[in-house]
Amino acid sequence: MAIENFNIIQALCRSALSTPNNAVLQQITRLKDALKKAGHDKEAKSLESLLASSHKSLEMTPSKIRQSFAIGKGDELTSKTPVPVDKETSTPLAEIHFGNDLPDEIPVFEENIREAIYSIITEWTKFDKLLEIEAFPASSCLIYGLPGTGKTHLAKWIAKQIGLPVVLARLEGLMSSFLGTTAKNIGNLFAFANRYNCVLLLDEFDAIAKLRNDPQEVGEVKRVVNTLLQCLDSRKDQGFTIGVTNHETLLDPAIWRRFDIQIEIPKPSPMVAISLLRKFLQPLEFAENEMKLFAWCIEDSTGADVETLAKWIKRSHIVDKEMTISHMVRQFALLNSGRVDERKRSVILSNDEEFINALIEDDKYSFKQVDIAPLFGMTTSSLSKLKSKMK
Ligand SMILES: Nc1ncnc2c1ncn2[C@@H]1O[C@H](COP(=O)(O)OP(=O)(O)OP(=O)(O)O)[C@@H](O)[C@H]1O
Ligand SMILES: [Mg+2]
Repeated sequence: MAIENFNIIQALCRSALSTPNNAVLQQITRLKDALKKAGHDKEAKSLESLLASSHKSLEMTPSKIRQSFAIGKGDELTSKTPVPVDKETSTPLAEIHFGNDLPDEIPVFEENIREAIYSIITEWTKFDKLLEIEAFPASSCLIYGLPGTGKTHLAKWIAKQIGLPVVLARLEGLMSSFLGTTAKNIGNLFAFANRYNCVLLLDEFDAIAKLRNDPQEVGEVKRVVNTLLQCLDSRKDQGFTIGVTNHETLLDPAIWRRFDIQIEIPKPSPMVAISLLRKFLQPLEFAENEMKLFAWCIEDSTGADVETLAKWIKRSHIVDKEMTISHMVRQFALLNSGRVDERKRSVILSNDEEFINALIEDDKYSFKQVDIAPLFGMTTSSLSKLKSKMK
């Protein structure tokens, strides 16, 4: 026997599924199961096919991860949502970043790091499957490494992938000179983040997550870290949290444990440095040997230093098109003492002979004489002559 008004029920379900979320899917699945149990096979089948096509479209939407995070939990954060402030100074405790302010491209890393980072995102697209086996995807991630290695960029990119706005904690707002106020501010910040669907980003995290046994700082640090521990626990099932630090040794061990994932971002390898240079030098293009010299010069520096070198090269290229690459690198080394390795810097700033010799003897980059000569504005035969003179 057909159910009276089922066509209306069906239309309602179809309309709800046009913007599917997990709560809607769950209720329609319940209805389908109940109909089936009551022997209304035809109606149950029709809901089943509605659910199947909705699952498919859900699978394909880029906001799949966002949906998993938003399962009937928080309110939507908009540009009009008031941000909590420090009561004494009225400084905002956070700033909100929406998708448009967040980077589209993942920073340039070694393949294994990239893969590991992508796996965090993929976990969230399998949210339903994980729940079926009573597992929950990672919801917190600590990113640490040297300054200028792309940690903040990475944190924002992850947030962009999740598809939710970022609540970026502002240290100058959170930290108060009044006793107890910092802890209170942290509590308010987490309460705010837990109320809305968002990614909470705690950049320069070490400032508030200091070791509790630091003899310099007594009661207040303990109070702040204890509050932070409770807050991190309260956030566990509420949304994604990212902590970023370049002083990981200063973090309290209990704080470390609260993060499901801990990623160390290393300095770029020579290969990564060349990819970074290519990216930052666009639209300019340089020959392989020229790129190799740039990478050699900036070896063991951070991604931010590579970016500075690329900007320098661009400017030099425009100012003096005829400038040899070795001259360009020399000027950079002269004006960027903190960015170029001390040993390399003294070689770069010495005479051509020593510079060329260091390049020939470097086994990592395996420069050949034909590569080196044009970098110094020489022909290969004049370089050979210089070499034999050196001997
Ligand atoms: N691996 C990388 N790929 C792409 N860009 C990078 C990379 N490393 C650094 N950069 C660039 O260098 C600059 C600094 O990066 P970012 O602010 O993310 O570094 P950080 O690790 O957070 O540094 P700090 O610890 O000083 O805050 C940015 O412009 C960023 O795009
Ligand atoms: Mg940073």
